Amino acid sequence: KALYYKFFIQIVRTIDLQQVQNQTRHKTDGLSSSTVVLRRGQNSIFVLYSDTHSSLLSAGPVSVEVPVSRLGQPSLTQWSAVLERRLPNPTGFAKRALSVSLSSPASASIGVYTLQLRVETRLNVKTHSLGQITLLCNPWCQSECCLCVHTQLNDLRTEYVRSDIGLLFKGSPGNMVSRPWSFDQFEKGILDICMKLLQLSPQHQADMRTDLQNRSNPDLLSSILCVNSNDDKGVLMGNWSGDYSGGINPSQWSGSADILKKWAEAQFRPVKYGQCWVFAAVMCTVMRALGIPTRVITNFNSAHDTDGNMVIEEYYNEMGKKLSMSKDSIWNFHVWVESWMKRPDLGQGYDGWQVLDATPQEKSAGMFRCGPAAVKAIYQKKVEAQYDVPFVYAEVNADVRTIIIKDKKVLSTSIDKKRVGALISTKRPGSMLMQDVTSEYKTEKGKRKSDKEREKHTVKILLVSFKNLILSHKLPSRAPGAGAPVSLQLLKAPVVGENISFNVIITNNVAAPKLLKKHVNAQNKEYNRNPTGTFWEAHDDVKIAPNETVTIKHEIPFNAYMLKEAVEDYMVNLAVVIEDVESQERVLASEEFNIRSPALSVQVYSAPQLKALNLKYSHIINPYENQ
Ligand SMILES: *[C@@H]1O[C@H](CO)[C@@H](O)[C@H](O)[C@H]1NC(C)=O
Ligand SMILES: *[C@@H]1O[C@H](CO)[C@@H](O)[C@H](O)[C@H]1NC(C)=O
Ligand SMILES: *[C@@H]1O[C@H](CO)[C@@H](O)[C@H](O)[C@H]1NC(C)=O
Ligand SMILES: *[C@@H]1O[C@H](CO)[C@@H](O)[C@H](O)[C@H]1NC(C)=O
Repeated sequence: KALYYKFFIQIVRTIDLQQVQNQTRHKTDGLSSSTVVLRRGQNSIFVLYSDTHSSLLSAGPVSVEVPVSRLGQPSLTQWSAVLERRLPNPTGFAKRALSVSLSSPASASIGVYTLQLRVETRLNVKTHSLGQITLLCNPWCQSECCLCVHTQLNDLRTEYVRSDIGLLFKGSPGNMVSRPWSFDQFEKGILDICMKLLQLSPQHQADMRTDLQNRSNPDLLSSILCVNSNDDKGVLMGNWSGDYSGGINPSQWSGSADILKKWAEAQFRPVKYGQCWVFAAVMCTVMRALGIPTRVITNFNSAHDTDGNMVIEEYYNEMGKKLSMSKDSIWNFHVWVESWMKRPDLGQGYDGWQVLDATPQEKSAGMFRCGPAAVKAIYQKKVEAQYDVPFVYAEVNADVRTIIIKDKKVLSTSIDKKRVGALISTKRPGSMLMQDVTSEYKTEKGKRKSDKEREKHTVKILLVSFKNLILSHKLPSRAPGAGAPVSLQLLKAPVVGENISFNVIITNNVAAPKLLKKHVNAQNKEYNRNPTGTFWEAHDDVKIAPNETVTIKHEIPFNAYMLKEAVEDYMVNLAVVIEDVESQERVLASEEFNIRSPALSVQVYSAPQLKALNLKYSHIINPYENQ
């Protein structure tokens, strides 16, 4: 790891690493570290003050030694050092000041280097410690990062590497909540802590030399970074139990620095507690600090397919109550990061955004990690592409099979192909708005050609008979929504303290009147698990004429769901089962949503505006009153 300078000089008085200026040129200014922070694939200039000099300087990490010429150009493919020029002596103290340009290759390993200057004379060898350099990835270097060759993408690097302001999306697609997050990569000490994360990885502990070599590839580097603590000394311990005693409720974090500092202060014992958005946000901080362009992604209705069959089963009883019978689950939202990397290991066409999921869900190659999975490989369903493409593909594409059972007998099943991966979102660069990136993961809202054809077929059958559809285990699957015999419609995005208003819409597609039983059931749930108890229900009969569509309005009063405390990720699972009294056939529609906190809006008025509004000053703190 030591970087040796062999330098045939007699006396080295001092070295000036030109820290501040060089960091500006390397776009690392603002990153706080006890070392000089530089990007690879770029030269930096050091000024040596010495009495005399000779012509050879050599540098190299671990085993590499590179001769340094007095003439020549800095190289970008290997370590090199070039004597730039002699400077006028500024101090009068040394005989000569030498300007030396040190370059690292674009493939250099990321990490902390110790710089040493070895002075060799005919008589002796002296080693001078010159301090440390932290070498980071360089998205501004053409050979490293394809992000920079795109035209307007210079701005994107500003967002995805240099910005420390984040926006995390939570809730449900119809009632999205955005939360600001402070990535804090420029906070004092944070970069050094991120470097410590590399140092403490099990890979580094097991095989230091290979680990250091692996660190030259962002894709291998990113799989070393384990923010969760399931296998190692990771930063965060996950806890989804609802009991966060002995730690911090994951919803209460608002920035990465608090977490990373707490980790360092506790001698690198995992910080309690994290959930998906916390893992992702901390991962984003570490990746941006290391110089790898990264953004936080929220996938709404994210499937967690435990058995790898790309189908999530959901069980309901005949009264519309969801049952906890499946190991598979759909998280109302799940958060991961994407990092922009080259992927020469996958062949042509897979450079670009790569999914990295830091939340411990399933093991990958024996460890709780996921990715990097090329977004383009997910789009193409190229399941054999490294790493974990099938898992992420299922997260955004799995089908949902809804099964109504009674006394262990299946009454009906239906398949929903559109619910999972309903919206994939990130923060829009340079703004505080949402950017929809769903189309980067899947074609036209998840509908592949074959799915569309199947749907057409399904609609036909649906029009023919309401009756057959309900029984249909073997018939092609139906997606609820347009054309379905029953659907749910929220009238307003639910807000804490207000009633939840919704319509149940039932359509009779056949030319005979029907008597139906309607069962509506509301259960509460957390975003990543099956619902618990029913807190509101309604059961009644509905008469429906031939070809008629009826709309029945319901209101769940505020006091029915009243929250004991503000639970940010409180969700409601609302389901309706319609039973045809004559045939006993049943159809189901369901909807999951969160209840948002009321928005607070703060308006700042000037004194004249206040007067115009005729507000009484005595009720307002007005710091500008005297102006
Ligand atoms: C280095 O990367 C290779 C994959 O190219 C992997 O098999 C190996 O386990 C890694 N070694 C360490 C120590 O990280
Ligand atoms: C979550 O934290 C609670 C409270 O400290 C603890 O009892 C529980 O075991 C934790 N759960 C997990 C999965 O670590
Ligand atoms: C129901 O609609 C179908 C098709 O639109 C029509 O042929 C039929 O006459 C209608 N039946 C009644 C009773 O209105
Ligand atoms: C909320 O619902 C309850 C029960 O349905 C009703 O009595 C009340 O008027 C509703 N409140 C509002 C503000 O609509």
